[in-house]
Amino acid sequence: MPLKNTAETYGTIAKTLHWVSAGLFLISYGSIYYREWLAETDLENWAAIQLHFSVGFTVLVVTLLRIIWRLLNRQPELEFTFSFQRFAIRIGHYLLYVILIIMPISGYLSIADYLASGRGSVSYFLMFEMTSLKDIQLFESIGLTLKQLEGPADTVHSFLGSRIVWLLVVGHISAALYHHFISEDRTLSKMTFHRTD
Ligand code: HEM
Ligand code: HEM
Repeated sequence: MPLKNTAETYGTIAKTLHWVSAGLFLISYGSIYYREWLAETDLENWAAIQLHFSVGFTVLVVTLLRIIWRLLNRQPELEFTFSFQRFAIRIGHYLLYVILIIMPISGYLSIADYLASGRGSVSYFLMFEMTSLKDIQLFESIGLTLKQLEGPADTVHSFLGSRIVWLLVVGHISAALYHHFISEDRTLSKMTFHRTD
């Protein structure tokens, strides 16, 4: 299996980054709704939200690596004849990248003032405390306070998370399954690890 992408398939690195970020993304969704719907004790509640924060940050890091790798690679050919279909699929993929970036950043900004005030902390997988933006002086130079950002960031995070993102992801997964089981083309097998030769 090639490390880099080819015209026929994604390479091992792009596949690994896709499945790691997809898995982490689904865990961050699962953890927050576990907290909202199922957690009964304070400990479960705390563990679910800390997992949400830690996994969410990791999604951002993995996505940035993924984008760098994507820029260094060719893209496999899409399994479509018409250019408008190829265009639509590319737009869908770009939207997924946008949410992979916006969700962790808006989530972080929605609690940045809380962290900066010292009222609470985020422990990254119980290894170290996450720093607050105030500590790194990002907004003082442009005159925006963390407090001013908290509300809008929370609205964006919550609106996208509860209304938009899952629709895009369900659409994406359904499209992959449709291609595999109904159209029977190579869309999904280009992203999986089984050997085709
Ligand atoms: C891939 C990354 C992430 C995804 C997909 C995601 C998704 C979500 C979703 C779906 C909700 C529930 C929204 C609702 O029903 O109103 C939520 C809530 C929240 N998220 Fe995230 N999130 C991510 C990353 C983060 C990060 C990195 C942080 C902060 C460091 C964060 C902080 C929060 C907070 C504070 C809430 C509100 C929790 C509550 O009050 O129950 N999120 N997130
Ligand atoms: C069971 C879950 C999933 C399946 C079966 C799946 C399947 C696929 C497949 C087959 C492709 C290649 C499409 C093509 O080349 O035409 C792809 C690409 C992609 N997927 Fe997923 N995916 C899943 C989950 C996710 C999740 C949760 C996300 C992010 C929220 C995601 C983000 C992306 C992105 C951004 C691409 C574009 C890759 C690129 O060309 O750079 N996927 N996925």
